[in-house]
Amino acid sequence: MNNKYILGMIGLGTMGRNLLLNMADNGFSVTGYDKDARMLQKLEEDGKAHNLKGFASVEDFIQSLELPRRVMLLVPAGQIVDSVIQELVPLLDKGDMIIDSGNSHFTDTSRRAEDLSKQGIHFFGMGISGGEEGARFGPSMMPGGDKTAYNTVKPILEAVSAKVNGDPCVAYIGPGASGHFVKMVHNGIEYAIMQIIAEAYYMLKNGMGYNNEQIYNTFKKWNEGRLHCFLLEVTRDIFKVKDAKSGGYLIDVIKDEAKSKGTGKWTSQISMDLQLPIPIINEAVSSRDLSKFKQLRVVLANALPHETEKIDNPADFEVQLEQAFYFAMITCYAQGLHLLSQASTEYKYDMNLQEISQIWRGGCIIRAALLEDIYHAYSEQPDLAHLYADAGIQNKLKEIVPGTRKVIGNAIQNGFALPAFASALTYYDSFRTANSPLNLTQAQRDFFGAHTFERTDEPGIFHADWNSDNL
Ligand code: 6PG
Repeated sequence: MNNKYILGMIGLGTMGRNLLLNMADNGFSVTGYDKDARMLQKLEEDGKAHNLKGFASVEDFIQSLELPRRVMLLVPAGQIVDSVIQELVPLLDKGDMIIDSGNSHFTDTSRRAEDLSKQGIHFFGMGISGGEEGARFGPSMMPGGDKTAYNTVKPILEAVSAKVNGDPCVAYIGPGASGHFVKMVHNGIEYAIMQIIAEAYYMLKNGMGYNNEQIYNTFKKWNEGRLHCFLLEVTRDIFKVKDAKSGGYLIDVIKDEAKSKGTGKWTSQISMDLQLPIPIINEAVSSRDLSKFKQLRVVLANALPHETEKIDNPADFEVQLEQAFYFAMITCYAQGLHLLSQASTEYKYDMNLQEISQIWRGGCIIRAALLEDIYHAYSEQPDLAHLYADAGIQNKLKEIVPGTRKVIGNAIQNGFALPAFASALTYYDSFRTANSPLNLTQAQRDFFGAHTFERTDEPGIFHADWNSDNL
């Protein structure tokens, strides 16, 4: 029947409503369902131009959809997703498709996909990034699930996504929960970039004594160059906003305790399980957690004051800080993408890092000029083992690492905490160390626990009697 809707949205909050409006703008006949009458009314008001209407009854909503049905969920992650699925399943037919577009944990997505496949229903986990603005005018989307089912929503997703040089910022990621895995890592990178921006702000403010106007100008200048990215752009604008209550700048009255919804933590947790180090993301997660100990920080700040708090040569320092920022930023993406390649092998996601860097170039929170270089690196070498292994990236690293060392050395010398910057540099130095001291770790393990070791001069597994005089 051709008067049926091509897609139905469950959850008409800000994200769901804006994505539906975006679809309607692109000429798709879509509808929505929400238990909340106010949400239905808001959809009708905002979608007047397209005569967009929603349903208050889930049965009527499902009946209004063209077969095979495409049902998208934009509801809060967690138990609510399971409840909605439970409500839907008896009303659906074999071959129908559910797309969960919230920030669900990828293990929940795997479980749901497996359960629903037994009933012939395709379950997709799709990360959407870009917030309200992105949903309305072009997000970046990371869908994972059955490839054939994807082809039935591909034209809709490609039409509504952000575009970079005409390329849509959406691509089929892979089977199972790969879409939600990629969105989780996207958020881990988001946390890390936010942390390096915070640390740069800290140095500009406290190390160099810049006021908010000078900080605005520095971020503006940086954002016009190679550091150009969405997160720096919004940060720049934060330093312009005044506060009516205090009469000063709003940023100066915001409490320095950061909250989180968990996606960064999930990224760190899974990296430990996969034994794939992502220390800059871990530092970003830990920094938010440490920030919550405000009272204790105040007590310790008084008991253990900084010895000195001055940066020598502020003019040089600002130039070096831009280099350190670029270095740390490269490292954020390098670690995130390294984790993706490991997960792809482990979970058989068959991910294409070239396409993933391509769809992150627009629409999403971590969009950045640097992603263009990353995209080219993976286009030339799809099997690139690590971003640091690319010759173009190596040229950048050679240029910026000396300045980065000066920034971190200077900050540490003067008692400033730069956890993400320092961790990025240590990670880099560890990865370019051919002979690490971890031979000693193996010797220790064998000494006290007979855990055995391998030799550099002979294959096999060995154990030594460490207390014997002559081995
Ligand atoms: C996006 C964002 C979005 C959200 C994060 C915030 O890609 O649009 O990542 O998903 O802003 O969930 O996460 P925290 O609340 O944990 O900082």
